[in-house]
Amino acid sequence: MGVKNFEKINDDKQRQPSMAARARKARHCELAARAAMAVAFVWTVVVQLMHLWRTPRPLREYQSNGYLMVSSNGGLNQMRSGICDMVAIARYMNVTLVVPQLDNTSFWHDQSQFKDIFDVDHFINSLRDEVKIVKELPPHMQRNVNMGRYVSMPPSSWSDISYYTDKILPGELKKHRILHFQKTDSRLANNGPLEVQKLRCKVNYNALKFTAPIEKMGKKIVKILRKRGKFLVLHLRYEKDMLAFSGCNEGCTDEETTELQELRSDFLGLATIYSIPWWKKKEINSTLARLAGLCPLTPEETALTLKALGVDRKTQIYIAAGDIYGGERRLKTLRAAYPNLVKKETLLPPSDLLTFKNYSSRMAALDYIVSLESDIFFPTYGGNMARVIEGHRRYVGFKPTIRPDQKPLVCLIDKYQRNLNWQEFELGVKITHVNRYGNPSKRRVIPGKPKEEDYFWSNPHECLPPYK
Ligand SMILES: *[C@@H]1O[C@H](CO)[C@@H](O)[C@H](O)[C@H]1NC(C)=O
Ligand SMILES: *[C@@H]1O[C@H](CO)[C@@H](O)[C@H](O)[C@H]1NC(C)=O
Ligand SMILES: *[C@@H]1O[C@H](CO)[C@@H](O)[C@H](O)[C@H]1NC(C)=O
Ligand SMILES: *[C@@H]1O[C@H](CO)[C@@H](O)[C@H](O)[C@H]1NC(C)=O
Repeated sequence: MGVKNFEKINDDKQRQPSMAARARKARHCELAARAAMAVAFVWTVVVQLMHLWRTPRPLREYQSNGYLMVSSNGGLNQMRSGICDMVAIARYMNVTLVVPQLDNTSFWHDQSQFKDIFDVDHFINSLRDEVKIVKELPPHMQRNVNMGRYVSMPPSSWSDISYYTDKILPGELKKHRILHFQKTDSRLANNGPLEVQKLRCKVNYNALKFTAPIEKMGKKIVKILRKRGKFLVLHLRYEKDMLAFSGCNEGCTDEETTELQELRSDFLGLATIYSIPWWKKKEINSTLARLAGLCPLTPEETALTLKALGVDRKTQIYIAAGDIYGGERRLKTLRAAYPNLVKKETLLPPSDLLTFKNYSSRMAALDYIVSLESDIFFPTYGGNMARVIEGHRRYVGFKPTIRPDQKPLVCLIDKYQRNLNWQEFELGVKITHVNRYGNPSKRRVIPGKPKEEDYFWSNPHECLPPYK
């Protein structure tokens, strides 16, 4: 058989090829060459991958200027963005970062540490070319810390990277080569050098991965929802801490209003989350705060808004939140408008949530996964989770996030209760939100007013396809 084939080939060779055959042959040859080149390319990639697999990539070479310890403050998503900023800061200060400590004193009293929420080895390894990260200080450095030989401080909010490299590094860090940042929220300016921005994205979208049990349970929820069709995630931020912080009582009973008022005077409980003392000093007038667009939408306002935006009654709506203030009573209107209202507790058997439910950050991590995967994400307040997830959804392909514009919205809602008809109301709501779907856009920069400009983490446009 083999011989016979060989003879045939020899035979073919001896024939004089026609012009057409030659052309055909040339084409074949080109195809073959292309195929060969493709194979060679794949092979090179395979070899390179095998190489990577076998020999660790070289570490970034730099003279370490010391150690940076950080205590992240706030809820999961505030800590998340803060951690990403701290990695970038450590990189440009040329310091070794100790795995961040998570807040265990805030309103939520969650004792979870970094390794309980995030895959710590993945975090360290995926950033090994950028920053050296260690799980704990080496013993001699720890001894120095125990003897108080280190500087502990909150860095200034919204600082440029140069504040860290030109001021903190030769100043506070120089003293003992160990620095502790007591806070991590909003410590890096929204805008800065491109390479810093890209590193922030790399941390958030590649290096920070939830632990396997969290990922697994999050995916399970998504699978249950997907089986039933499309779903919208409603980050219904109508929770006790939010209402206390924002000074909003809309729709609350007298007892609830009193309870919120008492919580507001619990300075420590809330101040550690929001680190803003101003609200304690003055009484917030809820009516005025709402009209100024400073309140989270109530469940009733949310139902009207979703309806006006054309969200179908049959849509599955997953509530990503903790306990809604006022419970089922406050969800009645929303449930009447959207009967397929679910949350993780109604989708999963209680046993699945046993290891999560006492830990607000782990519960929030599940909601993060579901929010990222949803067809539409609708947060009722522009807090940390809303902003971080909006940015992440842009990063994974501009998945729609509807950002309600509270101020015109409550005005329209109040008018609808008085004299506007449904068509007028609906049109008003639609027009108001035309540019609020998380589409590609450039972040708004307002020099000197970091709180008013667009937040880096809600639109990291430097890391997205170029904006046209
Ligand atoms: C960090 O290390 C790099 C590489 O050695 C060096 O070029 C840079 O000047 C250092 N930066 C600081 C702030 O020490
Ligand atoms: C919080 O975490 C720190 C650092 O991990 C630990 O020293 C401290 O005891 C914890 N606090 C509480 C209240 O558990
Ligand atoms: C809040 O402000 C509104 C409008 O100015 C006023 O009518 C209302 O009485 C105020 N409420 C309280 C509790 O002060
Ligand atoms: C959760 O916390 C509650 C109240 O503090 C406690 O009774 C319960 O045993 C805890 N459950 C788990 C699974 O840790």
